[in-house]
Amino acid sequence: MTDADPTPFYAAHIFVCTNRRQEGHPRGCCAAAGSEKLRDYMKARAKELKVARIRVNSAGCLDRCEFGPAMVIYPEGVWYRPKTVEDVEEILQVHVIGGGRVPRLMLTEKDVPPPKG
Ligand code: FES
Repeated sequence: MTDADPTPFYAAHIFVCTNRRQEGHPRGCCAAAGSEKLRDYMKARAKELKVARIRVNSAGCLDRCEFGPAMVIYPEGVWYRPKTVEDVEEILQVHVIGGGRVPRLMLTEKDVPPPKG
């Protein structure tokens, strides 16, 4: 960030991969791992809790398919791999509302896709 950059429009801009591939694809996909339900839960709970300046968007493939369901929160750029709605609730409460982190659900720099070609 530079001083010339505007304040982020959203305090939490969350992208949830809902990409769906054909069954049997070697990389799998986040939709098959349940990401649509997790996105729906995050959106509904944020609304219910009246979380200010949050946006939850569906995303196409974020290229971390093997570690999905993949979710990333900006402006921090912190990636998560929630498996259940309880995981999403924890991310919402601890990270988005509380400003903390949920290390057990975070992707790391070691979680990279396989080399291409
Ligand atoms: S299918 Fe979700 S990151 Fe690729």
